[in-house]
Parts: sequence; C-alpha cells; structure tokens
Amino acid sequence: MAPRVSIVLPTYNERGNIEPLLAQLLPLQQRFDLEILVVDDDSTDGTAELVRQLAHGEPRLRLVRRVGRSGLASAIKEGLLDATGDLAVVMDSDGQHEPATVQRAIETLLLGDLDLVIGSRFHAEASIQGLSDRRETGSTWANAWARFSLPAAYGQLTDLMSGFFALRLDPLLPLIRAVDVNGFKFLFELLAVSRGRLRTAEVPLQFQPRSYGSSKLDLAIFWDFLISILHSLSLRLLPRRAISFALVGASGVLVQLASTQLLMQLAGLGFERALPLAVVTAASSNYLINNALTFRFQRLQGLALLQGLLKFLLVASLPVLANVGLASAFYSLVARDTFWAQLAGILVVFVWNYAASSRFVWNTP
Ligand code: GDD
Ligand code: MN
Repeated sequence: MAPRVSIVLPTYNERGNIEPLLAQLLPLQQRFDLEILVVDDDSTDGTAELVRQLAHGEPRLRLVRRVGRSGLASAIKEGLLDATGDLAVVMDSDGQHEPATVQRAIETLLLGDLDLVIGSRFHAEASIQGLSDRRETGSTWANAWARFSLPAAYGQLTDLMSGFFALRLDPLLPLIRAVDVNGFKFLFELLAVSRGRLRTAEVPLQFQPRSYGSSKLDLAIFWDFLISILHSLSLRLLPRRAISFALVGASGVLVQLASTQLLMQLAGLGFERALPLAVVTAASSNYLINNALTFRFQRLQGLALLQGLLKFLLVASLPVLANVGLASAFYSLVARDTFWAQLAGILVVFVWNYAASSRFVWNTP
C-alpha cells in the first residue's frame, strides 16, 4: 500500500504563490496517500480565504489557520503535530523549493530506511538562484557555526538551516513536540534536541527565485540565530530569554560606560553627577532593545511603550539605586576607579532586572 504523506506548507502572505504550488503538488496523490496542510498565520493578503475556497473542491487539502501565534518554527511544529501521515514533508510555499524534490526526498527516506532527509542548497548537485550574495554568504557562515554547535554525528550535513525536509512522523513525534519554537530554525532545533540519534541524508535542492512577494527574514532572525548558538553551546541549560537579556545588558554596559565618559568630558560633570544620568540612559536603551528583540512577541507599542518604559525604570530603579549606591561606594571606599566601580554595580542588577521585568513589564512568567 502507498505510504500516507503529509505535506506541511507554512504561509504568510503567499496568495500569489500558493495556488500554482498546490497545482504542482496535488498530482503526487497518484503515488501516495496524500494530505496537504497549509498553516497560515493570519495573512493579510487573503491567503487563508483562497486556500479555504480551494479546499472545498479538494478533500486532500486542509487549512490550519492561526491567529495571534506567529512564527515560522511554530507554524511548522503545529503542522507536523496535526499531520496524519506516516511521513511528512515541510517546504516553503513561495515557489523557492521545487516540488520535484518532494518525490526524491520521500524515495530517499523510504529506500534508505532513514528518519530525516534534508533538501540542501549546498549539496554538490544543488544550485541557488533566489538568494542575494549577502544572504548566501550569511547562510554559509550560519551553517558553519550551527555545525560546530550540533552533535558531531551531523558533521556531514551541509544545510542545517533548510526549510525543506522530509521525516518519519511516528518515531519523531516526541522530538517534534520537544522543539522550542522560539528557536532560530525548526530544522536546526530538531537536530539539536535529537542529540545525534537521527539517521539522516540530504538531497540536492534547486533553490529558485521567489515568484511573488518578498522574504520575511529580518534582523530579529539573526538575533535568534545568535541566541540559538549560545543556547546550544551552554548545553541548552541557559534559558534563551536570559541569554538575550544578558546580551542586551552587555550593550547597556557599553552605553553606560560611554555616557559617563561623555558627560564627564564634554559636559564637565563630576562622576557622582554623571553616573545617575548614564545609568538611566543605559536602562532606557536596554528597555528599547529588549522590547524589539527579547520580548518582540509581546512587543509594546505606542502609549504602552511609554508606560512600559516607566514600569521598566520603576522595576529597575531598585537595582539602579543599588547600582548607583554600589558604584559610588566602591568608588569612594574600594578604589577610585570609575570602570570597576560601575561594573560591580551592573553585575548585581542583572539577575533582579531579568526576573522582575519579564514578570512585570512584558507579563511573561
Ligand atoms: N505560517 C507562517 N508564519 N509562515 C511563515 C512565517 C510565519 O510567521 N514566516 C515565513 N513563513 C513562510 C513563508 O510564507 C514561506 O512560505 C516560508 O515560510 C519561507 O519564508 P521566506 O520569508 O520566504 O523565507 P526565506 O526565503 O527568506 O528563507 C529561506 O531560507 C532560510 C534559510 O536561510 C527559506 O527556505 C527558509 O525556510 C530557510 O530556513
Ligand atoms: Mn522564501
């Protein structure tokens, strides 16, 4: 009997791309017991409405429509958990992944008795047309770092960030459940939680230019990548959010040290006068960066952004006072060294700020 295959297609504003893609994928029902799941994150261009309409005449097509839960990794996870196939294939729905690769990936998975087959843009027989030189170089670097942080058993894989992969659902469901959707890329996270136990292979991908619309990859994704690597390197012990908060905190350290210097040298203030101003500047800069990166899924905007800043300064004022107090005390008692005086204060502040502002400013546990 033909295996049951579920194809998971994450969409965000792909109205112009999804119909031609479905037209190319549906003929696979002649070979497989096919199911296609489109996981849409409340697209604003009518993607979901179009798929819903197409599904009326096509029982193999299902729409999963999500509101208020966005993110590519989480859409893929939801699609895979909803899938009813023996095998599942995940691919982009913007036309960049060639439908012809689907059959090849499935055959490789079945013939080799494997768990996971990746469509690789960096395979010897692959080609890339749809990426700018900058994106291609970025991907190559990202792959090198990712390889370094993953189990050695995956050392031969060439595309750890791919959005195209086929897998066996039954044995992998517990791992799929365990994937942290705040992670950078679903595939990378899956490999990381599998601890090197998956039997894997790659097939070449002929990466195409996008047909309609534009890529959703932005700066925040690069931030997620950095966090994912550090998270992996900490043996997945440090929480992602704490790592992000600490990196932002480190930027705040620079802001504070630089502001003090500026205020002392340009404005001619004494250290004791410059310090409180520099601390508030650093706290505000931390707040804005955290809002844009660490807590972007709970991002505050407009008036709430201002209220949040006040709350953040309030929450931080206890340690800020401690920071100023400690730094001043250090300066007058221990050593007249402005650098170490400030670092001593900043260190004490980190733990309190992280715990308290997660809870009270962005309302996360
Ligand atoms: N449901 C859902 N929710 N789908 C999303 C979201 C989201 O938040 N963001 C993006 N998508 C869908 C897009 O509609 C598209 O079908 C697919 O995910 C890939 O998104 P693109 O925005 O086209 O990504 P890309 O082409 O820049 O990135 C490619 O390279 C990455 C590695 O560098 C893709 O192949 C990625 O899958 C790949 O990881
Ligand atoms: Mn794309």
